[in-house]
Amino acid sequence: MKNFRYYNPVTIHFGKGVLNKLGRTVARFGKKVFFVYGMGSIKRTGLYDKVMEQLKEQGLEVVEHGGVKPNPILSHTREGVEKAKKEKVDVILAVGGGSVIDEAKAIAAGAKAECDVWDFFELKEVVKDALPIVTVLTITGTGSEMNAGLVITNEEKKAKFGFRAEPLFPKVSFLDPTLTFTVPADQTAYGAVDAFTHVSEVYCNAEDIDADVPRGIMETIMKSIVKWAPVAIKEPENYEARAELMWCSSLALSGITWCGAGDLTLPAHMIEHSLSALYDIAHGAGLAIVTPAWMRYMKEKRSEQLEYFARNVFGKNSIDEGIEAFENWLRSLNCPVRLSEANIPEEEIDKIAENAYMLSVTWGMSDFYTVNVIKEILKLCV
Ligand code: NZQ
Ligand code: ZN
Repeated sequence: MKNFRYYNPVTIHFGKGVLNKLGRTVARFGKKVFFVYGMGSIKRTGLYDKVMEQLKEQGLEVVEHGGVKPNPILSHTREGVEKAKKEKVDVILAVGGGSVIDEAKAIAAGAKAECDVWDFFELKEVVKDALPIVTVLTITGTGSEMNAGLVITNEEKKAKFGFRAEPLFPKVSFLDPTLTFTVPADQTAYGAVDAFTHVSEVYCNAEDIDADVPRGIMETIMKSIVKWAPVAIKEPENYEARAELMWCSSLALSGITWCGAGDLTLPAHMIEHSLSALYDIAHGAGLAIVTPAWMRYMKEKRSEQLEYFARNVFGKNSIDEGIEAFENWLRSLNCPVRLSEANIPEEEIDKIAENAYMLSVTWGMSDFYTVNVIKEILKLCV
């Protein structure tokens, strides 16, 4: 078992009806609330009204910042930072998925800083302080509700960068699986793939794959996602399926899974971010294309981990069969598994690799993940 440091201070309220505590919880952090949400799903589902009711009951003042787009962008984030500073808000409430929570985190950091918020993403500045963040999760996958990470796209530079900072752990996250009943089939699949990949990337890169506890946690999460994602897609209001996916997703990137197995490394994520930066596809869709290709590329270098993956997650006797079973599962969820299936031109592999290399450098992975290695992996996505 490898040495590790584990820290996760997020309070989770999980289950049906937990939202009843939302107003009182937010009120603990101040009187003026910055309410961040997306492109309208919360208005269509009636959640917006429920949240407003809770906040009004506590006599809280609300400043709204709606319109966060999937794959959130820097210009809208900067607007949020200015608004939050001008209004001198006390607490940020994010109601939505990873995109909303990530933009809320960037605003929470930016509102307490003098520098431009993008400086944090280029690792030129460190987040020392942030406004407190409360989240209500409406779509599962990223794990942003239970971690200190965030990802934003600088649309001018075409760069989708992410970083982590401890002040950005949400204080409290509300996880009611019934709020995800309305998530459409494609987004349910992409979220499942995202959460699965947060675990499978760590598993297949594990320095100590024989450490029983981390391996067991990771295998349980992966098997649960493989089992329940198709059920949630077929029966969107199946509570058990939504609940399993929700808790798996939150745990997947919470830090607990890799304790003892080694450090967190996300090479398929690094490459995927260039696909969603350049072509604005869903993150989970991009991962479905890149992750099996990355596994194929790493067959020799990660043979022990991939053999375990094949056998213990998909019940297969060889690495090739394991990767094939993984890809078949992705296809069964209607995810794209080749660049062309997401309408990404294969001739643009060079451009994609150059873009991904920016993040490889920023994340300190460029010793191994050179432009040429990234290109070779992308060729396996054709
Ligand atoms: O914008 P609205 O109208 O709310 O609609 C959203 C959006 O269109 C919709 N949706 C959300 N909840 C719904 C719903 N539709 C119906 N019913 C509901 N209950 O779903 C669409 C996708 O939402 P989004 O928040 O974009 O999805 P997701 O949670 O997958 O977040 C993706 C973003 O998170 C980043 C990704 O790169 C991407 O930018 N990630 C963040 C991470 C983190 N902070 O730790 C790690 C991940 O690896 C990932 O990179
Ligand atoms: Zn992800």
